[in-house]
Amino acid sequence: MEINLKGKRALITGGSRGIGRAIAETLSAAGCEVAINYLRNKAAAEKTSQGLKKPALLLKANVGKDEEVEQMFETIKKEWGGLEIVVNNAASGVMKPPLELTHHHWQWTLDINSWALLAIAQKAVPLMKKGGTMIAISSLGATRAIPNYTLVGASKAALESVVRHLAQALASQNINVNAISAGVVDTDALKHFSNRDALLKNAKQKTPAGRVVDPQDVANVALFLCSDLARMIHGATITVDGGYSIVA
Ligand SMILES: NC(=O)c1ccc[n+]([C@@H]2O[C@H](COP(=O)([O-])OP(=O)(O)OC[C@H]3O[C@@H](n4cnc5c(N)ncnc54)[C@H](OP(=O)(O)O)[C@@H]3O)[C@@H](O)[C@H]2O)c1
Repeated sequence: MEINLKGKRALITGGSRGIGRAIAETLSAAGCEVAINYLRNKAAAEKTSQGLKKPALLLKANVGKDEEVEQMFETIKKEWGGLEIVVNNAASGVMKPPLELTHHHWQWTLDINSWALLAIAQKAVPLMKKGGTMIAISSLGATRAIPNYTLVGASKAALESVVRHLAQALASQNINVNAISAGVVDTDALKHFSNRDALLKNAKQKTPAGRVVDPQDVANVALFLCSDLARMIHGATITVDGGYSIVA
């Protein structure tokens, strides 16, 4: 069955690179209009936009800063007047062991990775007049202990909880809110891991499906969640990891 998103408009935070980029390309290929949010790398956002069926609305904003989120939604309101899909994908974070972290590190990471979903939902819901879909991209670190992943793990646990609470609050408005929790995906984000090569090798070895996840695997599930096929899925965290997390 082909999924057709013609007439829908999607905001993808961090949509210029990695997983966000694959989601932008996939939703665009399904006929959706796409807005790409990014933080610093305008050239990457422009390059992604050029590869889409229709050029994207490019929105530079740090999603951890309320005033920048507000400005981003002013532009969406002016350009589109409404919105049907939000993919909360942008993430950042300080990678350090627990005893080296500061309150500032906590605030930076949690503002971008967890609070942003609430800030964005508060601005997006009034624009989602006929209902819609919200998706947050999480990681297996939400429920595990991974060296140096302390804060990102905590932020993803909070993110998954916010997803459940938003899902409960918004289901009656015909808005589905869900998370996709991805296993290891080889994107630029892995450059922040000093043990990147070992991480990828280990993930590949331990994954029953025999390979690591690629951005398209995550984008395919995002496309499904945006479709009518997923209308009764609310508040779920769907794991996309090739079976990595079920192995002892
Ligand atoms: N890679 C993995 O193994 C993996 C696994 C599980 C889950 N995830 C999750 O998947 C999502 C995407 O990760 P990725 O690996 O695709 O990352 P990536 O390749 O590093 O791309 C990050 C994207 O987010 C944007 N961004 C970063 N901080 C931002 C901020 N404060 N405000 C707005 N945009 C911001 C970047 O924009 P600029 O280019 O302008 O900086 C870029 O578009 C994240 O939520 C991540 O936690 C990743």
